[in-house]
Amino acid sequence: MTQAVITGTGLYTPEHAVDNAALVAAFNAWVDRENARHAEAIAQGERAALAYSSTEFIEKASGIKSRYVLDAAGILDPERMRPKLPQRANDEPSIQCEMATEAARQALASAKVSAADIELVIVACSNLERAYPAVAVEVQQALGTSGYGFDMNVACSSATFALETAANAIAAGRVKRALIVNPEICSAHLNFTDRDSHFIFGDACTAMVLESSEVAVAKERYAILGTRLVTQFSNAIRNNAGFLNRVTDSDPLALDKLFVQEGRRVFKEVCPLVAKLITEHLASLELSGEDLSRMWLHQANRHMNDLIARKVLGQEPDVSQAPIILDRYANTSSAGSIIAFHLHREDLSDGDIGVICSFGAGYSAGSVILRREG
Ligand SMILES: CC(C)(COP(=O)(O)OP(=O)(O)OC[C@H]1O[C@@H](n2cnc3c(N)ncnc32)[C@H](O)[C@@H]1OP(=O)(O)O)[C@@H](O)C(=O)NCCC(=O)NCCS
Repeated sequence: MTQAVITGTGLYTPEHAVDNAALVAAFNAWVDRENARHAEAIAQGERAALAYSSTEFIEKASGIKSRYVLDAAGILDPERMRPKLPQRANDEPSIQCEMATEAARQALASAKVSAADIELVIVACSNLERAYPAVAVEVQQALGTSGYGFDMNVACSSATFALETAANAIAAGRVKRALIVNPEICSAHLNFTDRDSHFIFGDACTAMVLESSEVAVAKERYAILGTRLVTQFSNAIRNNAGFLNRVTDSDPLALDKLFVQEGRRVFKEVCPLVAKLITEHLASLELSGEDLSRMWLHQANRHMNDLIARKVLGQEPDVSQAPIILDRYANTSSAGSIIAFHLHREDLSDGDIGVICSFGAGYSAGSVILRREG
């Protein structure tokens, strides 16, 4: 069977950075406004006053210090509390296509592959900006790739599930080169008026080129030794936005049409699931935590990553073993573990083993074990 290798990666980072102080100031101004609006009901005990958010809580509970977003002004406007992105005409490039092509061009350049040689494009992310035509087919046209493309959504695990799909297509000899892109516009599904979660997400797009080792030319490459995926149904992370909203006559602007989670429960349930997944996956390849030089983990919460790394490695991880990018990027959904892989691999040596691991809504988790070559 043909060996699939990752030969290039790319990262699109939006230009607007919003730190915790700016985000909390906007949230607290909105709280003041809401409490003033409902002052009478609050005074009569009919309604609880809303509480302030705090930068100390956010950094301590999650490790997040800042995030990049497509539009900061709308998020930081207490009258709006959501990004403002202009509606684009059908003959203009879609936003996700633009993000995807920027990240993809970097990935193609680092793999030394021309777009025309890509036979499969997978756009894999938590939210797609339209039902159809598939964003992947638009990306295919924008870049000039050949073959076919499709969109897929497995929430925060979209990138690892796409990695397995693309690696299988290569291993089966169906295609020689594939491109995966993860254009995540998380700021558009985040409720910036929810104190429990308003700080969680940021926007970004990652890209990866996968090739058959028989045709790859890039010297630095990461052989996919194995992939393992797991899902287990849970309502602890949920978003009820969907095409049936219109016909069920539910309010399309209701807050359940945005990201909602029970954060503490997710923390408790997902960490053991992920540690078990990686450990068993390593064992199936006759490897153990001691063989891992790097863990490129999903980036939702620093304490989650420390706990998972500790369980898998069997020792206190240092930051170089399980790098953190969520301090600057926050949770960028499926892009998070790939940003970590993109930014933190140069120092590895030929033969070093690492794991990309995602986890999130579904629940869904994916483990991709890599060996650096070159
Ligand atoms: C979301 C998360 C950071 C919250 O941290 P936590 O330690 O679980 O915090 P809790 O929700 O239990 O809240 C603790 C306290 O802080 C308060 N609090 C919540 N948000 C706050 C905010 N923005 N500012 C100040 N205080 C806040 C709560 O009201 C609570 O107060 P109480 O103890 O008086 O009741 C954390 O649970 C998490 O990251 N979970 C995993 C999420 C995840 O991976 N999701 C996957 C998404 S893809």
